[in-house]
Amino acid sequence: MTASIGIISSGRGENLRYILQAERAGQLPARVKIVLADQPDAGALRIAEEFCVPHMFIEPAGSSREEYDQKLIEHLEGAGVELVVLTGYMRILSPGFVRHYKNRILNIHPALLPSFRGLDAFGQALEHGVTWTGTTIHIVDEDVDHGPIVYQQPVPVKRSDTRESLKARIQRAEYRAYPRAIKMFIEGRPKVVGRKVVFENGAK
Ligand code: GAR
Repeated sequence: MTASIGIISSGRGENLRYILQAERAGQLPARVKIVLADQPDAGALRIAEEFCVPHMFIEPAGSSREEYDQKLIEHLEGAGVELVVLTGYMRILSPGFVRHYKNRILNIHPALLPSFRGLDAFGQALEHGVTWTGTTIHIVDEDVDHGPIVYQQPVPVKRSDTRESLKARIQRAEYRAYPRAIKMFIEGRPKVVGRKVVFENGAK
């Protein structure tokens, strides 16, 4: 069983690098078919090039959210994508896109959801004085940083942490967590039951 993945990114794309490394090492039952970005200088596009994966910047200016997402769908469908993986994609997906790929879009967020949704999850964690935060991979629904949770990895917060040191520790955890969660998701035959993801193969 090999799933065809499409990546959408706005940023550095370091998670993409680790997903591609896992794929190339034979540790992921998946193939990244296309990488799309809404920023012309997104690092994800450079990483896709490095790994010889088809990639494309899609200009958001001049399109409504629905029109833009329709373009994304056309490229993803053209590449035969079954599972959409967001890596630092900062635009909110339209309801039409979410319906099109219902329960087939994954996102990574740098906190233990439902805590610290939205921007600057690192700063939010420090401000609240939590001693643990982490990273969450979840299915995307129509709300931001909200859908059913696939996998979480806790990360400790140290008293001496700055926003930057905490961010670096969480991102290191993300690089291990995202490939692992994608593998679980593909192999686990997940079903969404209420707020929860239930794996038919019993994975936790
Ligand atoms: C990651 O830290 C991810 O958790 C965050 O963007 C970064 C992308 O890094 N996503 C969100 O905050 C989504 N709410 P990358 O571009 O290097 O993969």
